[in-house]
Amino acid sequence: MKNFEYIQRVETLSNGFFAENFRKPTMFIQTFGCQMNERESEKLNSLLLAMGYLESPSEESADLVLYNTCCVREKAETKIFGKLGSLKSQKRTQPNKIVALCGCMPQRPEVIEEINAHYKHIDIIFGTFNKNSFPKLLYQRLTTGKRAVEILTEHEEESELLENDTTRFLPHKAGITIMHGCNNFCAYCIVPYVRGREKSRKIADILAEITALANDGVKEVMLLGQNVNSYEYGFAELIQQVNEIENIQRIRFMTSHPKDLSDDLIATIKNCEKVCKHLHLPVQSGSSRILQAMNRGYTQEHYLELTNKLKSAIPNITLTTDIIVGFPGETEEDFLQTLETVRLANFAGAFTFLYSKRSGTPAADLTEIIPKSTAKERFDRLVELVNSLQLKHNQNYIGKNVAVMADSATSGRTDGNVLVHFDIDKLETSQVKPGDILSVKIIGCQTFYLKGTVE
Ligand code: SAH
Ligand code: SF4
Ligand code: F3S
Repeated sequence: MKNFEYIQRVETLSNGFFAENFRKPTMFIQTFGCQMNERESEKLNSLLLAMGYLESPSEESADLVLYNTCCVREKAETKIFGKLGSLKSQKRTQPNKIVALCGCMPQRPEVIEEINAHYKHIDIIFGTFNKNSFPKLLYQRLTTGKRAVEILTEHEEESELLENDTTRFLPHKAGITIMHGCNNFCAYCIVPYVRGREKSRKIADILAEITALANDGVKEVMLLGQNVNSYEYGFAELIQQVNEIENIQRIRFMTSHPKDLSDDLIATIKNCEKVCKHLHLPVQSGSSRILQAMNRGYTQEHYLELTNKLKSAIPNITLTTDIIVGFPGETEEDFLQTLETVRLANFAGAFTFLYSKRSGTPAADLTEIIPKSTAKERFDRLVELVNSLQLKHNQNYIGKNVAVMADSATSGRTDGNVLVHFDIDKLETSQVKPGDILSVKIIGCQTFYLKGTVE
């Protein structure tokens, strides 16, 4: 039976539920991890709506709870296991409640072992390669009462169950996955193991999806992939075509790998008026020695050459980054080079992470573990530097007028992705809709946001 037939079958069951309970069954989806997971949750949400479920405002009252999970760091996993643990008691009082787990965590065999041993109350489990099987698994669980599990180890033939479906969580912004998986195998990273090899979607399919979203009111798109610079059919070409889609006002993308950032892409960012002049370019470390141990494929010199090139080509560009502290073998000297690199690149913001050992990755076998206290101390010094740079960048906006895309009636984002809280003099708050572009005069700032007045 085809997956879409299962949608109809579950919908029939939902109608039966309605006849018995005088209400539709309800669902609650919680997403952990990156924007790709966020996007996939939108698709799963859409599937559930098609199967006759209604969104529930709370996890406690929902008939079905779905966790779309992340395993990039141990902390993420611990948090999710904690959540699963607390659902155990809810299941005692609501025995018909269905608990489903999907995303990156179930792709790790260790996680499945743990679930089999201690989390027997989980009803449905599937991974990153088969979200389209969700209707089938839900149908199996509803009709047999038994746990339904399906974990694959590589991509299914890609075809969206709900082609060009525009269901999404925000009215004005949407992420679009342009490629799945990752081929880079950075030594610390679990993503290639849980997301498989790179697989690019066809340009025509991506353009059709974005056009459908644009026709439905989306103003900003974020093109998503673990390494968009190695998009198989030409990333610069793709951006140029997205730039032509009517009603789209802003184009963003994530994530760019420094080793694959081409001159062609730099020119495209510069020349396409809708592409935000913001680049998130994870550096991970400033020490060439550690970068080599991380298998990143570039040196500190190469990275800084790249940021200099970007800044001279696009003077108003905002650069942000990701940094890992405490990778095995990192010396004080290595760490000082990270601080130096942050200063020289003059990042406007950074996500900073303590190294987390992921079993199965090459780095997990390294023996020169950095003591927790040392790593934490370095982390604090790094955060202090990053924050001071961010504050300086923000101070530069004071007195200027910036274009802000509203996310709500009182806040939005600049082209450089800086958060802005605004007051409105002339306009009524109720006149501002998400996706409107406002001219905001910046009058103050903090480390993490700007404050301004709509002119
Ligand atoms: N594909 C993207 C990012 C994927 S994960 C890229 O290459 O940039 C997001 C961030 O999590 C990474 O940039 C890295 O900084 C961090 N990260 C990944 N694995 C980690 C680990 N084992 N410990 C700590 N941070 C990690
Ligand atoms: Fe992980 Fe590296 Fe791939 Fe990013 S590029 S997902 S850090 S392996
Ligand atoms: Fe996490 Fe999976 Fe994204 S591990 S960061 S949710 S690809």
